Amino acid sequence: MTSRKHDRTTLLIGATTPLLAACEGPQSALDPAGSAAELIARLWWPTLFVAVLVTLLVLALLAVAIFRAHKRNAALPLSARQSRNLVIAGGIILPLAATIPFALSSFSIGRTIDAPLPDNAMTVEVIGKLWWWEVHYLDEAGDRIATTANEIHIPVGEPVRFLLKSDNVIHSFWVPNLQGKTDMIPGRTNVTSMTANEPGVYRGQCAEYCGTQHALMAFLLVAEEPEAFDDWLAGQRQPAAAPETDAQARGHDVFLDAGCAACHTIRGTPANGEIGPDLTHIASRRTLAGATVPNRTGHLGGWITDPQHVKPGNKMPPSELTPEELKTLLGYLESLE
Ligand code: CUA
Repeated sequence: MTSRKHDRTTLLIGATTPLLAACEGPQSALDPAGSAAELIARLWWPTLFVAVLVTLLVLALLAVAIFRAHKRNAALPLSARQSRNLVIAGGIILPLAATIPFALSSFSIGRTIDAPLPDNAMTVEVIGKLWWWEVHYLDEAGDRIATTANEIHIPVGEPVRFLLKSDNVIHSFWVPNLQGKTDMIPGRTNVTSMTANEPGVYRGQCAEYCGTQHALMAFLLVAEEPEAFDDWLAGQRQPAAAPETDAQARGHDVFLDAGCAACHTIRGTPANGEIGPDLTHIASRRTLAGATVPNRTGHLGGWITDPQHVKPGNKMPPSELTPEELKTLLGYLESLE
């Protein structure tokens, strides 16, 4: 990663910059790293070019009109027929010539990037929550084989199907560097797909206003080599690591006794809540709280103690733990790789 990219990232996403140290540069639809995003960017640049030309033309004509209005005999020396031809050319032919090619190529690109994938393509189910992302990996029969949150891994070079859902309000699933937006609508399953052409960590963002923390409803999309992806998925399928030390065992007990288990699942333990993110492999994730803060001890402790300070309005209540309980809980959660 170059320092130039760091700088651009800083400019684009100021407040969340520390997080983006993990990312491959700016979150931008104009810096495509996937097949669909490349087609979208290829349509976007000529659209911008023509729109700028048209704007300049209109401004120039406006300037001429204003200039002439200050003169006597301001009317253009045109016959009725010439005036009519001018209206037809400038009011009908020119707008159609400027827009029809874009309409056609937009239609064609839309069909290409939304083309259905073969049945055996890898499928990821993503459910929009308030304000985070529940992620399930499905097998060919459509059964869930692994569950995570706010961090989606895919193998580079392989098309991946996404089944997009919401059980609350409308969200929109968007990884600008890889694909256009797709809405997540309650009661519906929308389908999109993505192919990452370059390994990297790309930031995804909810693109439909969904409440106070819409801006902090983000996730990371990690595109990695197929072997690394297979290792990752195999790890995510495992139940949680059992506590290895006494301190971790105490942290495990704090998790169950303090009420965390009512909302969170840790597979392999009695914790099976379904309101918040699955924490079975929380230590393997780069960020917390919908890519709001990095997954480091201090941030995790701050989040557990006062989540409403980090992300006001989210569903997690504050925890009243003694310092010793918090310390062992953090130690336990950080062992869940
Ligand atoms: Cu979810 Cu905006």
